[in-house]
Amino acid sequence: MKEKGSSFSGSIGFVLAAAGSAVGVGNIWRFPYLCAKDGGGLFLLVYLVLVLTFGFVLLTTDIAIGRKTKKNALRAFEALKPKWKFLGKLTFLVPALIMTYYSVIGGWITKYFLTYIISDGKDAAADGYFTSFITSDIAPIVFMLIFLALTAWVVYRGVEKGIEQFSKIIMPGLILLILIIAIFSLTLTHTDTDGSVRTGLQGLAFYVTPDFSGLTVKRFLEILLDAMSQLFFSLSVSMGIMITYGSYVKNEVNLNKATNQIEIFDTGVAFLAGMMIIPAVFVFLGTDGMASGPSLIFISLPKVFNAMGFLGRPVAVAFFLMMGFAALTSCVSVMETLVANCMELYHKPRKKMCGAVGIYSLITAILICLGYNKLYFELSLPNGSVGQLLDVMDYISNSFLMPFISLLTSILIGWVIGPDWIVGEVERNGEHFKRAGLYRFMIRYVVPVVMLILFLVSTGFTDLVF
Ligand code: PHE
Repeated sequence: MKEKGSSFSGSIGFVLAAAGSAVGVGNIWRFPYLCAKDGGGLFLLVYLVLVLTFGFVLLTTDIAIGRKTKKNALRAFEALKPKWKFLGKLTFLVPALIMTYYSVIGGWITKYFLTYIISDGKDAAADGYFTSFITSDIAPIVFMLIFLALTAWVVYRGVEKGIEQFSKIIMPGLILLILIIAIFSLTLTHTDTDGSVRTGLQGLAFYVTPDFSGLTVKRFLEILLDAMSQLFFSLSVSMGIMITYGSYVKNEVNLNKATNQIEIFDTGVAFLAGMMIIPAVFVFLGTDGMASGPSLIFISLPKVFNAMGFLGRPVAVAFFLMMGFAALTSCVSVMETLVANCMELYHKPRKKMCGAVGIYSLITAILICLGYNKLYFELSLPNGSVGQLLDVMDYISNSFLMPFISLLTSILIGWVIGPDWIVGEVERNGEHFKRAGLYRFMIRYVVPVVMLILFLVSTGFTDLVF
């Protein structure tokens, strides 16, 4: 069932909602960490080129499919070509998998935010605090519940009154907070016990200066792959989310302009997150402090806040509030996609489907929480990492399914339907699609090949062969 009038009120509402989906924990912990690991400015440069080529092609494709078919992934691919119905089902799987763990991470952020509200956060900086929290019986489930309830409430309110209205408040708030913390980060200085001084500006230089030392072809390919998988996750493409949001875009909206704005927003926030985190970690913990994954946010940063003295607490509150905003708008987009697909599939109203998806999310998220407790196991994944339940879900959705879906989508659009279908949708109101030539070339020749490589690398196939 398609709700009457379920659309964004205009271009700004759509851009902010889509940017809300794109800007998430990936921008804030993953991007800065990859940057520090992959040669600072060199990674920035590579990422920027990829955003302007791959990012723009994948985002335009998803949004145009949504707007032209006015359907969600499950039905949109079927509408494009009945034989490709399976691609809709495959795409639907991604948000269904991401939903199982995103609210768990949201719960961790909620926990840290509240900890800094009610205490000075010294405990949070102690060794073992994060591990003892996520492995405890009840606490992770309680905080996940708070976050999930907030998400469900926004989705329950609908597209315009829920998602759009919240994004219009939250996204500017997020930008303001991140700007304040980033500027503060640049002013930091710290003197070590041996008398050496490190400043925020040195940290900034470390962040933006390209480091070409030890650069080989193999190393460059590694950087390229890191940047590519980051791009996917960060733009929320190839998982049906941008198809769903695209289906809410009015026909008068200039898609080309909106897509550019979403890309600028997402990349801008990632860049600012680096400007906020890298100098702060550099000043207090040195270059070795850039831990990977969640430990950067939940283990390294509390140590940084602790070292800041009395300013640490307000900065921590602002930081986790901003993180919470970023995670909430992303989680909303995942849940909305599930709800919208189910409404279309079962012809039931939003409120009912919200309840059903809510129950699914709750049960699966509890299982994920227990993955660090009663259901703990360690599994070696094909990409070489070792993980628990959460990492397994993340691996299947992001490393396995997403490149595979992009590969199939590019074949469908590039070779079966033809790129003109998308170009026509972008130029619907007579706008000029400046990068149409680039689009046609990329979707036919470049995207399929690169996605195939990415897929093979992340499934570990290349390790078997080389
Ligand atoms: N794009 C979000 C980020 O950068 C992550 C996300 C993935 C959001 C999947 C929704 C769905 O963190």
